[in-house]
Amino acid sequence: MKGGEGDILFSNGRVVDPANGKDRKGDVAVSGGKIVKPSQLRDPRVVDVGGLVVSPGLIDMHVHLRQPGRTDKETIRTGTQAAAAGGFTTVLAMPNTSPVTDNPGTIEYVRRHAAEEGVVKVLVAAAMTVGQKGESMSSIGSLKKCGVAALTDDGSCVQNHEVMRHIVEYAKTFSLPILDHCEDANLASDGVMHEGKWSVLLGLRGIPAAAEELMVARDIILSEIVGWKIHIQHISTRGSVRMVREARKRGVPVSAEVTPHHLAITDEVIKSFDTNYKVSPPIRSSNHIEALVEGLADGTITCIASDHAPHTETEKLVEFDYAPNGVIGLETALTVCLTCLYHKKLLSLPELVSKFTVGPAEVLGINAGTLDIGANADITIFNPDEKMTVDKSKFRSKSRNTPFHGWDTRGRVCATIVDGKPVFSRIKGL
Ligand code: DOR
Repeated sequence: MKGGEGDILFSNGRVVDPANGKDRKGDVAVSGGKIVKPSQLRDPRVVDVGGLVVSPGLIDMHVHLRQPGRTDKETIRTGTQAAAAGGFTTVLAMPNTSPVTDNPGTIEYVRRHAAEEGVVKVLVAAAMTVGQKGESMSSIGSLKKCGVAALTDDGSCVQNHEVMRHIVEYAKTFSLPILDHCEDANLASDGVMHEGKWSVLLGLRGIPAAAEELMVARDIILSEIVGWKIHIQHISTRGSVRMVREARKRGVPVSAEVTPHHLAITDEVIKSFDTNYKVSPPIRSSNHIEALVEGLADGTITCIASDHAPHTETEKLVEFDYAPNGVIGLETALTVCLTCLYHKKLLSLPELVSKFTVGPAEVLGINAGTLDIGANADITIFNPDEKMTVDKSKFRSKSRNTPFHGWDTRGRVCATIVDGKPVFSRIKGL
């Protein structure tokens, strides 16, 4: 590989590259959009990052970009701008768009718009049932040919176990990971928050932990009998973590992600009736949160994903019962996790970075999340200690439905580089 125009040397960094077991002072060299050895550079631009963390570009495997269909909430352009500001170089777009991403035309639409307007890399997840109705399987072979990265009915859960079994079998045939939003519809019923002390005190209908756990159990069983990867999206309960831990120990190919909001907030906040705390699955109690943190620390949960779910202010400005589920998270995920996990000494910096890089890259089977020589130069540079106050008026996202507005956090993204090109930067001269 030859150096030349566009060569950059990021010098004096703290290079955190969990894929290679690295956490040391050093430089990262970029040429021709790839990571190279510093000796391969020709007349590079030297950017002294003065001790900032230089890590592989972060991957968010759970993002709603809302295009096509709800461009009043988000677009591929604004969503990927938000991703860049949050340190993400790759996002996986969820299929609950309008029309649903369950067909070659819509997939091609998303891919073209992402190529033209996307600021970071956009992978596309396709719906695993037609129209996400949970009734008949999508044409998984054709979806694979269109280049989708994963299958999911995110936002809804296939209730029919026979349909789900066939989906897992086809997913295995076509080597596509399944990402599942685990929720038993009968048990969840018309609940609006976690079932527990606070739902009783507030008089709001509760969703029991068992609604998630029943489907996690179902998925583990199907993953084991078919022998194929099922990834549990936004895991939120103690029982789910216990089952995934036990299954992984036995070699069942299940994995799990957790969101920053399920780690950072307890259900008590809902006493404010602020609809920016309404999500699916619901924010749980501290007992569940402890289990989520234990799961991250012992490697049961290998990924952190934002579940960035933009909604308009008008839609959220209604009674708690009627508000849509979802919070945005691309621009706060890293700082919230640095604050709640790293600064509380619950995870080391390399452990935390691995949940945003190696973990999702492994689940999706993509060549990313590493600073290997020859890898694409997708890089995130951040200050793990810089104090900031989350201010939703400064977001790139089109929506404002964050539960973190006004939070004082520690840790801030300084630059995001995709294929060697800065797509977001607060560093002078970059
Ligand atoms: O809170 C959520 N919002 N959870 C989901 O699974 C879907 C998402 C959305 O699309 O708004």
